[in-house]
Amino acid sequence: MLSLHNFKPKIGNVTRNRAGIVTLKQAIKKRMNSRIRNLEEYHKAYQESVSQPEKFWAEIAAEFSWKKPWDKVLEWNFRDFNVKWFDGAKLNITENCLDRHLESRGDQVAILWESNNPEIHGRQLSYRQLHTEVCKAANMLKNLGVKKGDRVCIYLPMVPEAAVAMLACARIGAIHSVVFAGFSAQSLADRIHDAQCAYVITADGAFRGSKSIALKEIVDEALQQSPSVKKVLVLKHTAQPVHWQEGRDCWWHEELEGCSEHCEAATMDAEDMLFILYTSGSTGKPKGVVHTTAGYMVWSAYTFRNVFQYEKGDVYWCTADVGWITGHSYIVYGPLLEGATTLMFEGIPTWPDAGRFWQIIDKYKVNIFYTAPTAIRSLMAHGDAFVYPHSLASLKTLGTVGEPINEEAWQWYYDNIGKGKCWVVDTWWQTETGGIMISPLAHITPAKPTYATLPLPGIQPVLVNGQGEEIKGNNAEGNLCIKFPWPGMLRTTYGDHERCRLNYFSTYENRYFTGDGCRRDFEGNYRIIGRVDDVINVSGHRMGTAEVENAINEHPHVIESAVVGFPHPIKGQGIYAYVICDHLPQQPEQRKKEILEMVTKMIGAIAKPDKIQFVSGLPKTRSGKIMRRILRKIAEGDTGNLGDTSTLLDPAIVESIRDGALQ
Ligand code: WTA
Repeated sequence: MLSLHNFKPKIGNVTRNRAGIVTLKQAIKKRMNSRIRNLEEYHKAYQESVSQPEKFWAEIAAEFSWKKPWDKVLEWNFRDFNVKWFDGAKLNITENCLDRHLESRGDQVAILWESNNPEIHGRQLSYRQLHTEVCKAANMLKNLGVKKGDRVCIYLPMVPEAAVAMLACARIGAIHSVVFAGFSAQSLADRIHDAQCAYVITADGAFRGSKSIALKEIVDEALQQSPSVKKVLVLKHTAQPVHWQEGRDCWWHEELEGCSEHCEAATMDAEDMLFILYTSGSTGKPKGVVHTTAGYMVWSAYTFRNVFQYEKGDVYWCTADVGWITGHSYIVYGPLLEGATTLMFEGIPTWPDAGRFWQIIDKYKVNIFYTAPTAIRSLMAHGDAFVYPHSLASLKTLGTVGEPINEEAWQWYYDNIGKGKCWVVDTWWQTETGGIMISPLAHITPAKPTYATLPLPGIQPVLVNGQGEEIKGNNAEGNLCIKFPWPGMLRTTYGDHERCRLNYFSTYENRYFTGDGCRRDFEGNYRIIGRVDDVINVSGHRMGTAEVENAINEHPHVIESAVVGFPHPIKGQGIYAYVICDHLPQQPEQRKKEILEMVTKMIGAIAKPDKIQFVSGLPKTRSGKIMRRILRKIAEGDTGNLGDTSTLLDPAIVESIRDGALQ
């Protein structure tokens, strides 16, 4: 393995160093300025990242371990959408997450684990132990037949083995596709099928508050429609009884036994796929966002380092689930790449009571805490009495992610959790961006409540108006696009590059379109307003309205439905479903219950509508398009002025829907 200390550039790399191509050798000379320490350094780094992006990223990348340096830092075009970072380089991300730290911090805790049940002892794994576990698990996967390039679906609760499984895949060059364990059998099957996974890693069950969830049972159901799956590896966690299919199912602990603690890391190309992660878009089924090895590594590490300003010895806790991108980048990869101590929590914020988060912060003396606005709003609603018994004195940085944070929640977080002395970083980013894009840097960038503030170095945001023109100047509002590639950006959507190009690069020429509306204030601070497409953000979870409609339409008595978001005091947005049945239901409450069950079955409980209204028709234009603008207004309770309805096929339907909503 190469590191900065033993790297000897080969003659070949030097001769290939044409003008404009920065090699690792050049980069090493200028390295070690990638940690921003103050606002002046931020502005300097930002300027450099725009004026000389290749040089800028080469210097940062030089701090990692490479098996072979790159030939070219960046190649890109947004027209066909083709982006390559560090092309020609060879590496393994797990050597950077683990091996690289063994000498300097082998005995430091890498993963701290807190069980769902506060009575049960947590676990901790040092970097050395994690390295051993990952190597053993990697050998176990190899024994089961997993090969480089194979897709492995991971459907696990929040236990250290989830991180071990991800890293074990990366160790041998298999591509992980983690599916959040709250998704239904149908969703799991769809994702397994799309990525043609041959292996599934799951557990017998999961604990969530007072409940236990039969994960293996869900997997069994999913596998009835997943012929691609050859083996299911099952972690014993809850010890509940499970159905067993001989020849297909195997126990993690049995397979792990006797596996060697040594596993040479597979040599990966910079642009080899690292993982697939499914996320919802405005149309069709969720798409498998693909991230590749080198760019994602550099981006997740660089953003973790600078946004959170992690210092050696800090305890860092991100409350996300590894099933989401936040868990990938800021529980597993980012923190481990930086040699941090990262806490994983299996449970939920409100069990045994709404003081659980705060109790954990005191227990582990957490210094950096990163959560979602929904959690903050929900805990705020439970009242300050759950906060005051806990000192929270260890905290110095608070983060938020996943959805816009309202001013009241921001202030409560700052005052009651941060005690007025912690920096709050409101981090805007997406599954597709791989890591944080716009955010204050803790203790550096002046925070402004509800603003994600300034772009990180390397990020060139632009606001675009309805005509597709860039809005220059401050104090402006428009659709948020990014006009230059950054290392952590998605490379494709699995199996369908054209869909990726159409989704992100065809709305505005030569720009990545985020799907978010955004405001830029007088000082150039960015505030994300919310999605401008048919994606809704419920408790920080992305949901396609079409996806929820498809699930509702599966009910045998449903003819058609239309789903919109509406403001929700805790969840940010709630789901409002307008449903047409074959006959107006005699027992509407019973029918609503059945519809909720159908959505839970097709997607998962997180997609259950908050409100269902039975209607006799939907406001459609003459060309058959549903006018969601009107439905959104009604859902918001803003029925006074519904705007122009003259283009509707049947304007009278609007009144009947409005009257129904008011009932
Ligand atoms: C929203 C989560 C406002 C946004 C990391 C984005 C935010 C979508 C913020 C991506 C924020 C994320 N302020 N809105 N700080 N962070 N969003 O893919 O609409 O699950 O497009 O990634 O969440 O959600 P995703």
